[in-house]
Amino acid sequence: MELLKFENISKTYGTAAVLKDVSFAVEKGEFISILGPSGCGKSTILNILIGILAPDEGHVYKDGVDITELDPSKRKMGIVFQNYALFPNMSALKNVEYALSINNDTKETARVVATELLAKVGLSEHMNKKPNKLSGGQQQRVAIARTLALNPDIMLFDEPMSALDVSTRLVLRDELKSIQAEYGITMIYITHDQEEAFSMSDRIIVMSEGHIEQFDTPKNIALSPANEYVEKFVVEQINKKIEALTGFLNV
Ligand SMILES: Nc1ncnc2c1ncn2[C@@H]1O[C@H](COP(=O)(O)OP(=O)(O)OP(=O)(O)O)[C@@H](O)[C@H]1O
Ligand SMILES: [Mg+2]
Repeated sequence: MELLKFENISKTYGTAAVLKDVSFAVEKGEFISILGPSGCGKSTILNILIGILAPDEGHVYKDGVDITELDPSKRKMGIVFQNYALFPNMSALKNVEYALSINNDTKETARVVATELLAKVGLSEHMNKKPNKLSGGQQQRVAIARTLALNPDIMLFDEPMSALDVSTRLVLRDELKSIQAEYGITMIYITHDQEEAFSMSDRIIVMSEGHIEQFDTPKNIALSPANEYVEKFVVEQINKKIEALTGFLNV
């Protein structure tokens, strides 16, 4: 079932065309990555999806309904940013409870649900700490729990792991995938890391300079890149990593 549709979206800043007639559709329950170099328009797509930025042209549909003009709070989408964006003066627990209070939960329910969600992301022992007492990975887990608390249909991620070390990234990758499996949430994940996109996604949107070069499964992209750009910047990079990791085995 088609959950989300981005139809002929264009966005220009001054004279710079940042998105040029971009269209794609996402099925319910998919994990989609948007992969592309810095400045190609990835965050612009996410900001239009969540409704904090309006497109110049085109429409966004959710469940077949035109939501292009709909208020962000009514879209049932949650976003996780690279910089966590937690409230610094509130504990992990209070950060998540605050999100629940937006959904009009009672204080008692909010406490129970927030505690459960923080346990889900492995933070039971750190619930009463403020963000500055938590590691980057722990802060990102709070941000994930807080977004889950809003009970979104779609979770968006704008390079959520860029600031984290490699081992934390690997653990969080698995956790995100299992959260997705458990809650059945559709996820759209921005990255400029080919390996991250290939390891996590059902399908990948490969972008360059404001348009989509290819939108397909990792396997199809690897086996039949749509053009030279995808071949060079995606497939060759992945192959280089594989060679670097396996090369020593053949010696
Ligand atoms: N508010 C703005 N005013 C003017 N130009 C902007 C604005 N926001 C973004 N841009 C430009 O639009 C282009 C796309 O920006 P966007 O943030 O979508 O890129 P991105 O793919 O997310 O890049 P990165 O990987 O660095 O986050 C960039 O060239 C950027 O400079
Ligand atoms: Mg960005």
